[in-house]
Parts: sequence; C-alpha cells; structure tokens
Amino acid sequence: MTNKLNIGIILGSTRDGRVSPQVGNWVKELADSRDDANYQIVDIMEYQLPFLGTTDGTEPGIAAWSEKINELDGFVFIVQEYNHGMTGALKNAIDHLRDEWHDKAAGIVSYGSTGGARAAEHLRGVMGELKVADVRVHPTLSLFTDFENFSDFKPADMHEENIHAMLDQVSAWSTALRPIRISDDVNVEK
Ligand SMILES: Cc1cc2nc3c(=O)[nH]c(=O)nc-3n(C[C@H](O)[C@H](O)[C@H](O)COP(=O)(O)O)c2cc1C
Repeated sequence: MTNKLNIGIILGSTRDGRVSPQVGNWVKELADSRDDANYQIVDIMEYQLPFLGTTDGTEPGIAAWSEKINELDGFVFIVQEYNHGMTGALKNAIDHLRDEWHDKAAGIVSYGSTGGARAAEHLRGVMGELKVADVRVHPTLSLFTDFENFSDFKPADMHEENIHAMLDQVSAWSTALRPIRISDDVNVEK
C-alpha cells in the first residue's frame, strides 16, 4: 500500500471521433513528469453506463465505475462543451454515484470554441453539490488555436505552465482532504 495520491484523469466525451483521449493523454504525460501522485486515465466509455434508472442496476460497469471513483483521491476532468454545458455522458456518469465523490479535489481542463468555459462552469456547480473541491486554475483550450481542423490536438506551449499550476492545486487539496475521509470511515465503524 502506497501513500501516494491516486488521481484520475476523467474523459468526459464518448462520441465516435472524440478528441478527449488526445487531450487526456497530453495531460497525463505532463502529470507523469511530476512525482506527486499516480495519475491514470479513466474513460467513462469503458464502463458502458446505462442512463441512470433505466435498468435494474446490475450491469457490471456500474459497480466497476463505483469502485474506480471510490479508490481515487482526486480528479482532473477533461471537459468538452456541448450546447454550453458538459456532455450528457459525463453528467450521467457523475449522477450514478454520490458518496464516492465526497471530500475529494478536482481540476478541470476544458475545450471548445470559447475554451469550453461554459461547460466548465456548469461542472463547477455540480461539483459543489457532490462535495468536490474544484480548484481555481483552469486551463482552457481553444478549438481554433489548439487543434488543427478541430480534430488534431496541437496545444500551444503556454498551456503547460497552467496544467502544472492546476495539478499543484489538485494535489495539495487532495492531500488535505484525505484525512477527512479517513476520520469519516472511523466514525462509521464506531
Ligand atoms: C452536440 C454538440 C454540441 C456542441 N456544442 C458546442 C457548444 O455549445 N460550444 C462549443 O464551444 N462547442 C460545441 N461543440 C463542439 C465541441 O466542443 C467539439 O466538437 C469538441 O471536439 C467535442 O469534444 P469531443 O471531440 O471530445 O467529443 C458541440 C459539439 C457537439 C457534438
């Protein structure tokens, strides 16, 4: 058992032809050059989650999703703007869980025509309800200048500094919140 933080880089889109894996892998590469946490890609598509409440809830992906979010100390959401909000797939995946999110920290990396800013703000409201501490630094990527043909990700160099600043905050807040969860567990056992 390691004391290192486990941080998931959550891909928010599931559509065929999505660019989120390119963005997530770039963030992971930068994150892996640090020594503050174990970073992993968490692809919501792999869990094949049904729309919440439309099945009996026994699909293996639902339990696996719960287990995955439960084991993480913090998150970096890769957020893309769909109709001025986050994707339905990401909102559905978030709604499937509750306690698994509580008392953890999150950063947001977003993209869209205006850097995905509106989708990121949408997500921040949701994070508040789920007791996730979303950090201030928020790298925003432009579909016009950080992608070629809106599909080949070619991020401007200036974003790297911002990614590290965001990860600094996620790592600090994830560390600070961990003891709260441990003391909650102790209280439950009592
Ligand atoms: C249904 C839909 C709605 C979209 N709405 C917006 C929008 O409101 N604002 C925006 O900046 N981009 C919008 N876009 C463009 C997406 O941000 C862009 O296609 C991006 O690559 C989507 O992320 P993905 O490739 O990971 O799915 C929309 C795309 C789709 C598919």
